[in-house]
Amino acid sequence: MSEHQSNPEPGTGNSLSNNLDSTPVPWWRRGVVYQVYVRSFADGNSDGTGDINGLRSRLPYLRDLGIDALWINPWYQSPLNDGGYDVSDYRQIEPRYGTIADAEAFIAEAHDSGIRVIIDLVPNHTSSEHRWFAEANSAPIGDPSRQRYHIRPGRGVDGTEPPTNWTSVFGGPAWTRLDDGEWFLHLFDPSQPDLNWENHEVRSEFESVFRFWLDRGVDGFRIDVAHGLIKDMSFPDMDNSDQEILGGAKTVDHPFWDLDGVHEIIRDWRVILNEYSEAGAERMMVAEAWVATPERLANYLRPDEYQQSFNFDLLASEWDAASMQTIIVEACAQAAAVGSTPTWVLSNHDVVRHATRYGLPIGTDWRRWLLEGPHDALDAKLGQQRGRAAALLLLGLPGSSYIYQGDELGLDEVWDLPVEVLDDPVWEQSSHTRKGRDGCRVPLPWKPSGPSFGFGDEAGWLPQPERFGAMSAASQEGDADSMLELYRLALAVRREHLISDESIQMLEVDDSVVAFERGSGVQCWLNLGQEPVALPVALASVGRVLAHSSTRADSTALPLDVVLPGNSAIWFAEK
Ligand code: NOJ
Repeated sequence: MSEHQSNPEPGTGNSLSNNLDSTPVPWWRRGVVYQVYVRSFADGNSDGTGDINGLRSRLPYLRDLGIDALWINPWYQSPLNDGGYDVSDYRQIEPRYGTIADAEAFIAEAHDSGIRVIIDLVPNHTSSEHRWFAEANSAPIGDPSRQRYHIRPGRGVDGTEPPTNWTSVFGGPAWTRLDDGEWFLHLFDPSQPDLNWENHEVRSEFESVFRFWLDRGVDGFRIDVAHGLIKDMSFPDMDNSDQEILGGAKTVDHPFWDLDGVHEIIRDWRVILNEYSEAGAERMMVAEAWVATPERLANYLRPDEYQQSFNFDLLASEWDAASMQTIIVEACAQAAAVGSTPTWVLSNHDVVRHATRYGLPIGTDWRRWLLEGPHDALDAKLGQQRGRAAALLLLGLPGSSYIYQGDELGLDEVWDLPVEVLDDPVWEQSSHTRKGRDGCRVPLPWKPSGPSFGFGDEAGWLPQPERFGAMSAASQEGDADSMLELYRLALAVRREHLISDESIQMLEVDDSVVAFERGSGVQCWLNLGQEPVALPVALASVGRVLAHSSTRADSTALPLDVVLPGNSAIWFAEK
């Protein structure tokens, strides 16, 4: 009766003319997007850094996984001070990653494999090595080239105090002084000067960059710091300079997060996207917008603005049924209210991987835990078990789900990277009080052995732990109990049973369970408690288990069509 072990032809139907396109439903509304951190995905030329040709060589793996689209973290020319979110030329590929020709070949091959391509656009700031900043830096005070950035005189005697008390998201002041005595704004690293979006040259440049990449066939953009482009030009001091890393506005009255002016910019971009869109080949943009209230977020999703916005609530949630249930209900309602679909994220390149978060005691501040521990509080096995269950939640929900590279292998956080290898600017900018995000950016293991477990032929740019060998893609391939095969199965079942509509009906089952039924009649149950809960009696006789997060070892302990063990999930249908 159980279909747990059967993998219905992963990747089938995964073409650009798949069943998503035979309906008027734009692909992004129900698509699964796989996030590629290029630097750590696959190293095609064995220089220790991932690259586009490495990524191209892994397209068959991605096709067989069964995803719909890729989101490529910034691949533009960059000094890589902030992993590529410091762009020095938006029309060039970073040479360590390849060339424009490689990027074009990749986009074409991805499309041939039935996979769409979303690229990351970074409009809030450039690299300090961008031509514009070099011009501004060497121009006399008052020169128009300086108006492309926020460059201002300081306060106090001889302007030695920064223009405002704003702090950088990475730590320390948000202003750095130029040699001529004026100050430039950087909400992130000093190597990332903020652009001045009141300046028309900035606006027209990005419209041109949009077109440049749309002309090369990309299907959409993930917009970095979408809520931060417009600043209060009166430059007031902030009441509260305390900011979480990458956290957004805590109030609706903030000098640089979520100001109303951002919407005019978005609408200009949407006009361009619409120009390039066709039925079945829609071009889209998804916002990284951290805002104070659901109502403010809804503003970004008006019909002439973003198609989607990330919702990070699931990522931020504890392993707790009531919290997750509330998040799901609210996210679905909010998206429906503005005609969009919800997005779901468990991990990305900015946060501690969820296989580790879920193995920590409830209430742990995981960012602080990286440095401060206690590290023996981590229950890695529990993290894996919950990670498997969470995968069925992520992929069982309506809307669009984002998988971060390596989640499908169950990769956990490499929290014990030696400080000498840390590369994230957060480490320095926070004066060594925050370890930063390198632990979730360690190169992927593709093989059980080798200098970088098949990432390349040489060691990768960050060291991998020994355990990555057994977690490699090749080690998991064909093992029905592996995380990789669970993701493949879930993606295939999702395609077959869960994307025919966008409806969801929450079910009241047990306080420790989040349960819902999808329009096709498939039920998804996630037990966040420790104790088993009873499944519907009919399941054992007339039901069908479509996917289960438990392994074969678990099934010898408990009848998995009768009870759902703690920290596990199931998808089933009535017949
Ligand atoms: C958000 C990105 O996800 C993060 O990695 C980056 O450091 C900041 N934006 C600044 O661009």
